[in-house]
Amino acid sequence: MSENTIPQLEKILPEAADFLPLLGTDHIELIVGNAKQSAFYYMTAWGFQPFAYKGLETGSKDSVSYVLKQDKIVLVLTTPLHSGGVLNKHLNDHGDGVKSIALWVEDATKSWEETTKRGAKSAFEPEVRKDDNGEVVLSAIHTYGETIHVFVERHNYNGVFMPGYRAWNPEYKPEDAGLKYIDHMVGNVNWGEMNTWGKFYAEVMGFAQIISFDDKDISTEYTALMSKVMSNGNGRIKFPINEPAKGRKKSQIEEYIDYYEGSGCQHIALATDDIVKTVTALKARGVDFLYVPETYYDDILERVGEIKEDLEPLKKLGILIDRDEDGYLLQLFTKPVLDRPTMFFEIIQRHGATSFGKGNFKALFEAIEREQESRGTL
Ligand code: FE2
Repeated sequence: MSENTIPQLEKILPEAADFLPLLGTDHIELIVGNAKQSAFYYMTAWGFQPFAYKGLETGSKDSVSYVLKQDKIVLVLTTPLHSGGVLNKHLNDHGDGVKSIALWVEDATKSWEETTKRGAKSAFEPEVRKDDNGEVVLSAIHTYGETIHVFVERHNYNGVFMPGYRAWNPEYKPEDAGLKYIDHMVGNVNWGEMNTWGKFYAEVMGFAQIISFDDKDISTEYTALMSKVMSNGNGRIKFPINEPAKGRKKSQIEEYIDYYEGSGCQHIALATDDIVKTVTALKARGVDFLYVPETYYDDILERVGEIKEDLEPLKKLGILIDRDEDGYLLQLFTKPVLDRPTMFFEIIQRHGATSFGKGNFKALFEAIEREQESRGTL
């Protein structure tokens, strides 16, 4: 990229504070309308494997949770069993959506103390959960919207997932789709809140800003957005934060905020080391992706230079390519996977690149705008 203002990760990351060492993403919890059927969707369409369960049979009287796993990615799908609780309010306000981005830590008590001391609002204080297989310590703080970060300390636990859950081992186990780990998770925040949450990740969680762009970098005829990418010290946790910017018409970020009724998780990027194989499998199982016009590929190799993959299969699947100073990446975005035009997924394969596909944003936004037009929200 010529006009590159993106600093290299290794130059920046040592500056990220180490008062909150994060080992990785522990799991993502979504509050959904029907966890049983959502679990079936993520298994059948996405190749997640059944892992753990809690519900009436395990003594959980108020909610049911199905835990799914694919390599390092763990999804928890939770549904309330009665009316009137906090989970019901979450569902009513937002539709299905991400409630918790849980982070794996060595010390959940210290993580809570360090972050609340720096201004984080507590979601719940450190608590120990025990069963015959040991103990897990959990604590949590609020982030944007109604989203929380749960800190999970599990080095004294040998059971399945965590106390309160039992292994879930049904006969039905569709083949996985080659998804490996969470590359990044993006938050859309309300008007005027991007700097607030950028500062939150910097000051409360010790993250560093690694990338920033504004509406001059990314705008189409209709859409404009501003974005900052925050990363923790070891680079395992990356949270881009988007804020809508005034465009000629309603931007996709604004549409998200309107339908989610506030700030929330916009997309989860899942890494694969064979994007052609993964996307072929996902498409065959019914996952719907955004498409870019074929003309995107006309001058692509002049734009991104040599790549290892054959171009034809990428073109056939609509996979996008971008390059930064560290290498290149291949990526593709699904359409929203929920009824409201809110959360979607990204599939990403990195060949050295450390950025997020800025070179594709324009083509991508134009593809999203075609979808918005069909929803009558543009
Ligand atoms: Fe992304």
